Amino acid sequence: MNDSRHDSGDLDMTRRGLLLGSAATVALSTVPLTAPAQAATPDRPPAEKPALATVTFTVNGRSQKLELDTRTTLLDALRDHLHLTGTKKGCDHGQCGACTVIVDGRRINSCLSLAVMHEGDNITTIEGLGAPSGMHPMQAAFVKHDGYQCGYCTPGQVCSAVAMLDEIKAGIPSHVTADLTTAPQLTPIELRERMSGNICRCGAYSNIVDAITEVAGRGA
Ligand code: FES
Ligand code: FES
Repeated sequence: MNDSRHDSGDLDMTRRGLLLGSAATVALSTVPLTAPAQAATPDRPPAEKPALATVTFTVNGRSQKLELDTRTTLLDALRDHLHLTGTKKGCDHGQCGACTVIVDGRRINSCLSLAVMHEGDNITTIEGLGAPSGMHPMQAAFVKHDGYQCGYCTPGQVCSAVAMLDEIKAGIPSHVTADLTTAPQLTPIELRERMSGNICRCGAYSNIVDAITEVAGRGA
């Protein structure tokens, strides 16, 4: 009997030990991993101010001059400084294409590009392609073919599609171009591969393809 009580006590101690150990682990896990920000003291200078730079570029036909933190992306410059919020921030990591704009005729992910890299560039956003009162043919085709649902990816899709058709006209091959000695054609596989950087979470792909195909002059 004594042995059995003794065993039970050991078990209790063990359980208490485990609980105390767990509590200590939880307490430790709530300790911030980074040191708290320290205020400037006579011995320690204040944190350096961000570096600023002036950049001048043309956006939708208008010259713009901005003084920016050099870390500002082109996407944030457009949205936060010029209030051109048609360009969307999806992933902010170059993975979705929602931020696509056209720079000097080429489509880029504006979230992956620093604004100060675009001195003197000519930038076109969805607002520069057209407005409801005068839509670009690609915008009109997206409306006609219902090439969207929530619409969040649509500005990027439209900008990308416009520049993509120009790439084909310029004879720029894609990863699926079978014959590099002839001009690329807008085959269904070419279209899908060239637009593969623009993700649509609503899955409006078939209607997007219909819209682009119509503008390319290959369908109804
Ligand atoms: Fe730029 Fe997603 S926001 S690629
Ligand atoms: Fe909703 Fe494309 S229409 S993400």
